[in-house]
Amino acid sequence: MACRLPSAAAAVLAAVALLSHLATAAKLPASFKRCKAGDPQLGGCMKEAIKVALGELAKGAPSLGVLPIDPLAISALSIGRGSGPVDVSLDFKDLTIHGLSSAVIETASFDTKTLSLDMQTRFPGPVSLLGQYRIDGKVLVLPITGEGRCNLTFADLTTTAKIRAEKVVKDGQTYGRVLSFGFSLQPQRLHMDFENLFNGDKALGDNMNKFLNENWQEILKELQPAVEEAFGATFKEIVNRIYQRVPYKDLLLE
Ligand SMILES: *[C@@H]1O[C@H](CO)[C@@H](O)[C@H](O)[C@H]1NC(C)=O
Repeated sequence: MACRLPSAAAAVLAAVALLSHLATAAKLPASFKRCKAGDPQLGGCMKEAIKVALGELAKGAPSLGVLPIDPLAISALSIGRGSGPVDVSLDFKDLTIHGLSSAVIETASFDTKTLSLDMQTRFPGPVSLLGQYRIDGKVLVLPITGEGRCNLTFADLTTTAKIRAEKVVKDGQTYGRVLSFGFSLQPQRLHMDFENLFNGDKALGDNMNKFLNENWQEILKELQPAVEEAFGATFKEIVNRIYQRVPYKDLLLE
């Protein structure tokens, strides 16, 4: 019954709401923690440095061209119709993601040669996606339709990020450039609340929300590829903004 739907792979991320003025060289703000490139405990130092950076980026860092990450804005996210048990077209817009700055970095492994980074992150608090949705299709044979506000909340979320990067030389300075940002999420639970299902029919809507929550694992399978892709693209852009502006010699201490 559980199959990954091909349509989900075709999910599109319409746009990422981030500042877009020209990249100019910048220093990491003094409040950021920096690690020594030659530190034998570099992974441990990076865990702390990334945690500090996420806290600092929560409200945005204009000097780095990065908008706030808590909440983080994702303008649109779409999931196309498939042919499996969860066969819906689902469009989100004006999404805000709340709770990302509570991240605890569990493991971090940083490659000073390429500026690639692998890390596992745990979110002790809930991570919520709030915004507008429009849904149409079938969930485990039941028809579903509606549009309105929604709240998708991950509980006990852990995530894995695989950032592949390379060094580039620009105006005689070495910078990093992100080539790919693989992102996956593993929640212990997904809570869903779709307001105004079935044209606002409360009894039908309440029943459907209950049904969706009872079958959250099936729903998550359908949503997951598109959500991971959207998060990965957004985080790639954020890391790239920092890499493009802050020369390597200012990211890490020699
Ligand atoms: C979203 O749902 C979660 C889990 O049900 C709840 O704790 C949280 O208060 C909700 N957030 C909003 C803004 O409604």
